[in-house]
Amino acid sequence: MTQFVQRVFSGVQPTGNLHLGNYLGAIAKFVELQKTHECVYCIVDLHAITVPQKPETLRASIREVTAAYIAVGIDPKKHIIFNQSQVAEHAELAWVLNCVARVGWLNRMTQFKEKAGKDRENVSIGLYVYPILMAADILLYKATQVPVGEDQKQHLELARDIAQKFNLDYGESIAATGHGEAFFPLPEPLIQGPATRVMSLRDGTKKMSKSDPSDYSRINFTDDADTIAQKIRKAKTDPEPLPSEIEGLGNRPEADNLIGIYAALENRSKADVLQTFGGGQFSTFKNALVDLAVAKLEPIASEMKRLCADSAYIDDVLADGAARAREIAAANMIAVKNIVGFVG
Ligand code: AMP
Ligand code: TRP
Repeated sequence: MTQFVQRVFSGVQPTGNLHLGNYLGAIAKFVELQKTHECVYCIVDLHAITVPQKPETLRASIREVTAAYIAVGIDPKKHIIFNQSQVAEHAELAWVLNCVARVGWLNRMTQFKEKAGKDRENVSIGLYVYPILMAADILLYKATQVPVGEDQKQHLELARDIAQKFNLDYGESIAATGHGEAFFPLPEPLIQGPATRVMSLRDGTKKMSKSDPSDYSRINFTDDADTIAQKIRKAKTDPEPLPSEIEGLGNRPEADNLIGIYAALENRSKADVLQTFGGGQFSTFKNALVDLAVAKLEPIASEMKRLCADSAYIDDVLADGAARAREIAAANMIAVKNIVGFVG
């Protein structure tokens, strides 16, 4: 078996309104992983344009996600923070992988079906092939672990299938060019903990999302303490007291969601949180959740504000990150070209 260097890769789209789901499902884990792993964190601007974006808004969002990465505590000197469009090899590898992946595989992607809706003939081809670009992002760095929310699980499985098919299809050439049995590692999704799928505060059956028209459905990174408090106090609940056992959350999506948020924010299990609040009223629990959410999120919001006022610093971080990302990407892309049989 080929041994691969352990490397973490993940990405967030610069499409506005970073929210608690992004934080608990992904970004908070990025911070943890930097203690033990070499990490590459990307602002995936090529993905953003799969749906229409205003250039000015896109520019601001790229800087905002960068500021969020730094504000949560990712160290841009020890790890790599960069935006995807600045490393040309992402698009280049995506082309090669377009020729490895099968149409049938893409046709199974549920997120495409959701995003395209009834307008399937009219969405961009980019939206359709987006999971292949995502596979290219990961494989370009030969990443071994990918922290993401539950909604990205299927895309990660596709990335593994693509890596495996490339390794098989080009097996002989991989060996002949001195890369052993396999060129790409099969990236492992890291989807764990009590908040891998944070739900809307207005409807516990819908995912918390950037694109929900109701701002009360989500807690944004940029919300101040009063806004966070209001949103939690107005969050939908049911009339029953909180259960003491986890089984009691079964048919209660709103209760399950709020308990999951609390647990993730405090790094506890849901069962443990129910030990504290089980049998009590939502109002008491909500007060505690407001205090916890404000304590965790307000420092991030104020640090983001400070960073966003200094776009020269943000741009320096991105330029430095892109230069370091490019080094890894360029070496791997040269190897891919060689394996595939391109002359140069
Ligand atoms: P996106 O904003 O779509 O680029 O997502 C960035 C990261 O946040 C991905 O890893 C998603 O899986 C994760 N994410 C987005 N929404 C949620 C949610 N409601 N709950 C948990 N994770 C989420
Ligand atoms: N598709 C991911 C999302 O919408 C973002 C993403 C793009 C990504 N490339 C990636 C996540 C590579 C992890 C690894 O959330």
